[in-house]
Amino acid sequence: MAEEQKKGLEGVVIADTRLSRVQGDIGKLIYGGYDILDLADRTSFEEVIHLLWYGKLPNAAELDELRRTLAAEMPIPNALIAAMKAFPTAAHPMAVLRTAVSTLGMYDPEAEDGSPEANQRKAIRLTAKIPTIIAAWARIRAGQEPVAPRADLGIAANFVYMLHNAEPNPTEVSAIDVYLVLHADHGMNASTFTSRVVTSTDGDMYSAVTAAIGSLKGPKHGGANEAAMRMFAEVSQAESVDKWFQEEVKGKGRRIMGIGHRVYKALDPRAIVLSKHAAALCQRNNRCELYNVAKRLADLAAADEYFIERKLYPNVDYYSAIVLDAVGIATDMMTPMFAMSRISGWSAHIIEQWADNRLIRPRGNYVGPQDLKWVPLAERQ
Ligand SMILES: CC(C)(COP(=O)(O)OP(=O)(O)OC[C@H]1O[C@@H](n2cnc3c(N)ncnc32)[C@H](O)[C@@H]1OP(=O)(O)O)[C@@H](O)C(=O)NCCC(=O)NCCS
Repeated sequence: MAEEQKKGLEGVVIADTRLSRVQGDIGKLIYGGYDILDLADRTSFEEVIHLLWYGKLPNAAELDELRRTLAAEMPIPNALIAAMKAFPTAAHPMAVLRTAVSTLGMYDPEAEDGSPEANQRKAIRLTAKIPTIIAAWARIRAGQEPVAPRADLGIAANFVYMLHNAEPNPTEVSAIDVYLVLHADHGMNASTFTSRVVTSTDGDMYSAVTAAIGSLKGPKHGGANEAAMRMFAEVSQAESVDKWFQEEVKGKGRRIMGIGHRVYKALDPRAIVLSKHAAALCQRNNRCELYNVAKRLADLAAADEYFIERKLYPNVDYYSAIVLDAVGIATDMMTPMFAMSRISGWSAHIIEQWADNRLIRPRGNYVGPQDLKWVPLAERQ
């Protein structure tokens, strides 16, 4: 008899968490008690990091202290930069990030220390160094020297500075900061679950984060922003959307990337915030082709019986692709941007898992043959 099975672990609760809550039926997301719609545009990424790690929004002195601690940890080892210079320039930036984070672990003397204090220090290091790694790779693959982080800048501003080696543009910085706030944590999503599975073996934080990056890379998860951007570029102009929708989606059954969600059966609140930013940035840049494509495609899906019946709405990746494109982030760099934010949530979940751990070890329902008779090699067909 088949054992009880939850395909895709849908609806399965694996842990208590104080970090975030996704209410998919009403399209609500809270971080540590605060509605994401109250945090976005009002709270910096560093404040959200403090909320996730320490359970409260910081006061001014606490925020200042966190900013200084993060800034001190932003530089990456020269040996890592040298290793990255040897990577093939055509490598996917998520593959580079996955390998760089794994490499980073070998340079951290506390890598194997699972104490709460060491884990907190590693959370700071990883959150501080991942933006430096991503910016360094953008430059290395373009044949440029990486730029060292500045001690006076926060995460979003430092990232923009290191990417362009120029005084960061405030519009770009605030768009990236909002993006980082909105991606920091999201319940027991696939990459967070991955990080908890590794941690549940008493595995170290670098292994857990390396695995989480691998999980985030897939187009059904974090890779959807890149896939959505490629789809918008394929359609290329608003006038082509209706035909594309009929031929590709209705005709060939292609999925619209950035639409649909395992938990949200209403509009993802992050998509509401990001669609406003996408609209504002396109007006500001006077470059609205891809925003118009995205908007028209979302409208067609919203009016289509198939999407209505299945409660398929734009998720966080849909308009975030337009926002990141508008501030000059290359399409294949979009998923690393997701990781740059989600490291705050992953590390908080890893610390939470360590505090109340039990090996995560589900079962499979065996459906292969049974009771076969063993035959010596020489007699096998
Ligand atoms: C996110 C996602 C993986 C959720 O998957 P899930 O909960 O396992 O849901 P399913 O894949 O079983 O989809 C349920 C139904 O909706 C359809 N569907 C889901 N997403 C769709 C999309 N983006 N476009 C068209 N149809 C879609 C499926 O074909 C399925 O239809 P069926 O019941 O007739 O078979 C899925 O919606 C998806 O692939 N979306 C596009 C990728 C994406 O944006 N991912 C980022 C998520 S934040």
